[in-house]
Amino acid sequence: MASLTIRKLDEAIKVYLRLRSAKNGRSVEEEVRVILGEIMQGRPFEFATTPSQRSPSPADELSRAPGRAGALDQARVTLIIGGGIAAYKALDLVRRLKERNTRVRCVLTRAAQQFVTPLSASALAHERVYTDLFDPESEFDAGHIRLARDCDLIVVAPATADLMAKMANGHADDLASAILLATNRPILLAPAMNPLMWNNAATRRNVAQLQRDGTVMIGPNAGEMAEAGEAGVGRMAEPLEIAAAAERLLRPPRPRPLKGKRVLITAGPTHEPIDPVRYIANRSSGKQGFAIAAAAQAAGADVTLVSGPVDLDDPPDVTVKHVESARDMLRQVEAALPADIAIFAAAVADWRVATEGEQKLKKTAAGMPPLQLVENPDILATISKLKDQRPPLVIGFAAETEHLIDNAKAKFARKGCDWIVANDVSPATGVMGGDRNTVHLLTRDGAEIHVDSWPVMTKEEVATALVARIAETIGKAS
Ligand code: CTP
Repeated sequence: MASLTIRKLDEAIKVYLRLRSAKNGRSVEEEVRVILGEIMQGRPFEFATTPSQRSPSPADELSRAPGRAGALDQARVTLIIGGGIAAYKALDLVRRLKERNTRVRCVLTRAAQQFVTPLSASALAHERVYTDLFDPESEFDAGHIRLARDCDLIVVAPATADLMAKMANGHADDLASAILLATNRPILLAPAMNPLMWNNAATRRNVAQLQRDGTVMIGPNAGEMAEAGEAGVGRMAEPLEIAAAAERLLRPPRPRPLKGKRVLITAGPTHEPIDPVRYIANRSSGKQGFAIAAAAQAAGADVTLVSGPVDLDDPPDVTVKHVESARDMLRQVEAALPADIAIFAAAVADWRVATEGEQKLKKTAAGMPPLQLVENPDILATISKLKDQRPPLVIGFAAETEHLIDNAKAKFARKGCDWIVANDVSPATGVMGGDRNTVHLLTRDGAEIHVDSWPVMTKEEVATALVARIAETIGKAS
C-alpha cells in the first residue's frame, strides 16, 4: 500500500493536521490514521482553511476558553446528589456539566430526594436517575458496579457529613455509598454542611482520611448558612467552580513536546524616551508574542517572555520581564540566555533620540527642538550572530506593509536567524492590535528558502501552529 509523506501535503492541510494532532496529543501521522478511520466509518469530515468557511476545528477548540461547550467531548460523569439543602444547586451543576458536553448520570440518595426530585434531575440530565441499590427497573444487572465504572469521574455534590463518613469507613449500605466503594475512577467531593459539623473532630478525621485515599475536594466555601443567623465554612462550592474542577480532572493531559526546553520570547513595542514625559512608540499590542509564550508554556517549555509596555495580563507560569526601551530589552534577553529556542516577536523601535531630555522639552520662541535619532541595537541580529550562546533555533518576525515576501527574504539574509515569520501589518489588515494574523513561514534548506503560507488564523492558532512546528523540528533533530 502507498505510504503518505506528510511533508509533501499542502501547507494549509499541514497546519490543520498540526493543530488537530497537538490538541489530541497524537503525532501527525497517527492523526491522519484516525481521520482515515473515521471516514471509513462514515463519520463526516469537513476541512476548510478560513475561519468563516469552516465548522469548528481543533484550532477553534484550542482557542476556546476552558469551560465552554465541547470542551470535554462527551466525558461521562456519575453525579451523586447527597441529602442537604445545597442539593438544589446540584441541579444547576447538571446544567453546567452538560454545557461542557458531558454526559451526566444522577444518583440521588434517599435524603437527597427530600430536597430535589428524581424527575427534575432526569429532566436536566436527559437520562434516567438512579436511587436504589436493588432496583428491579435498572437496565444494569449489578447497577452500582456499572454506575461506578461506566464513567470517567464521580462527583458528589453536596457531599454531606454522613456520606463522607460512610466513604471514609468503607460502608456500602445504599446505592451512593456502594458506588463510591466499588469505583476505580477519580472522585470529586463538594462538601456542604453546617460549620460546626465541618469542624467536628469526626469530620476532620474523615476529611483527612479521604484526602489520603486520593479523593479530590472542592470547597466548602465560607458564607451564610441556610440556617438563619449562621455563617462560617460549610457552604457548597458554586456549581461553576465544581464544574471547572471536574473539567480539570477530566481533561486529558496535554502533550508536552517542549518539556525541558528553554524558550525565550520578545513581545510588544518598545518605548524610547524623548524626555521624562514623551516617548517614541508603535502600535504593537504584544498579543502574538504573548500567545506564543502561552502556547510554548502549554507545550511544556520553560518560557521567559521579555515584553515592552503592553496592556495584557502576564501568561500564567511564564517568567515575564517587563521592559521599556530596546536597550533594556536587549539586556534582559542576554540575561535570559542560554535558551534552546528564541522567538523575536517584538516590534522594537528602530531609533531612539540621541540625547534624552532630562526635563520636559518646552516650547520656545526658537521653534521646534531638533530631535536627532540614533539607531537602536538590533536584538534579533545580535543574538543570531552570537558565537557561544546562540540558541539552536532563532526565529524572527518580519512585519511589512509592502512587498511582504521579498522584504522578508531580504530580512532573513540580513538578520542571520533560522526562520522568519512574515506578516502584512498594513492598516487594512487589522493585524496590529487585532486578533487575527495571516503569516508566511520562511525556512531555509541550504541556500534555498521555503515559504509556507498559512491560512488566516487567530493569533492563538498561529501560536499553536508555530509551537507545533517547532516541536516537530526539534523532535526530528533530537
Ligand atoms: N528586531 C529586533 N531589534 C530591532 C529591530 C527588530 O530584535 N532593533 C527584530 C524584531 O523583533 C523582528 C525582526 O527583528 O523579529 C524584524 O523586525 P521588523 O521591525 O520587521 O524589521 P526591522 O529590523 O525593523 O527592519 P525594517 O525597519 O527594515 O522593516
